[in-house]
Amino acid sequence: MDKRPILRLNDLRVSFQSGKKFVPAVDGISFELKEGEILGIVGESGSGKSVTSLATMGLIPAPPGKIDNGEIIFEGNDLINISEKEWRKIRGNQISMIFQEPMTSLNPLFTIGNQLMEAIRLHTDLTKSQTKVRSMELLKLVGIPRAEGILKEHPHQLSGGMRQRVMIAMAMACNPKVLIADEPTTALDVTIQAQILELMKDLNKKTNTSIILITHDLGVVAEICERVIVMYSGQIVEQGSVHKILKDPQHPYTKGLLKSVPDLRGKKDRLYSIPGTVPAPGTIQNGCRFAARCEEAFGQCRTESPELYKSEKDGHEVRCFLHTLKEGSDKHVGVTS
Ligand SMILES: Nc1ncnc2c1ncn2[C@@H]1O[C@H](COP(=O)(O)OP(=O)(O)O)[C@@H](O)[C@H]1O
Ligand code: SF4
Ligand SMILES: [Mg+2]
Repeated sequence: MDKRPILRLNDLRVSFQSGKKFVPAVDGISFELKEGEILGIVGESGSGKSVTSLATMGLIPAPPGKIDNGEIIFEGNDLINISEKEWRKIRGNQISMIFQEPMTSLNPLFTIGNQLMEAIRLHTDLTKSQTKVRSMELLKLVGIPRAEGILKEHPHQLSGGMRQRVMIAMAMACNPKVLIADEPTTALDVTIQAQILELMKDLNKKTNTSIILITHDLGVVAEICERVIVMYSGQIVEQGSVHKILKDPQHPYTKGLLKSVPDLRGKKDRLYSIPGTVPAPGTIQNGCRFAARCEEAFGQCRTESPELYKSEKDGHEVRCFLHTLKEGSDKHVGVTS
């Protein structure tokens, strides 16, 4: 049976003021997160991944940011226009987030115990002794064995991996329905990265929390996600099952990302990187946003913008003209400009 969607973004558009005009950073994103699933969002730096997640937490800084359009449907309610007071009931409670560098999110002056207990107190009405018990439970949940000792320590006394575990414990304090992890392992070395990914997989299984895992690394997605969204220049360029995307990527950008993960292709000698960089928001007026970097670009790519095409067979989505040239049952879903 199909899992129930818990969160749905419809045509989300966010822009930032630059001089006198607003330039789009997220340009018509639509996707669904299902109950209990781990969804990956992948793309190079500057593709709009963090802006998408900040919007989903009601945290777009305005000014300079502005939500131009869209719906954020969480458990049937649209969050896009709710007040800050209403956001406070949802943020950290029903939808939680962890960031790349846990040191900046932890206060260096207070012990782990102070901060963890404060996070619990903020969102629950437990007594002081119940709060202490809950902190110990949470630290155990995130695989910290000597919980009692850690509660008395300060952030700088812990390793990067331990700090990230503490941040995850704080994010899980209220059993959120959705956990957004924005590059949670980027600052960590490879062994610790694998442990944190394993922990997130384990938490997802134990608590059924749905997870959005944001990363620039398709290798990380391959480890723990079932479905993945590939973002480029503020848009979705491909979306589908991780199995299919790793085996048979459709979009030239996804193919490039895949080639740059040596372990997945078994070629460890030379690390490939896609030539060029993500265009700055608002700089491409005509044609496919990936055209300047695309090995397969042709005439039409420089003059028209490809729309998102959805396969009727398996719901796989891809934004590329090559796809429309292929025969098959693919159908245009007309999601964006
Ligand atoms: N606070 C901000 N002020 C101005 N522009 C911003 C801000 N945050 C993000 N942007 C713009 O949004 C684009 C996408 O950023 P971001 O979502 O952080 O990318 P990613 O997380 O994929 O690396 C950036 O290229 C930048 O131009
Ligand atoms: S539309 Fe053209 S330029 Fe864009 S990804 Fe496809 S082939 Fe490349
Ligand atoms: Mg980011």
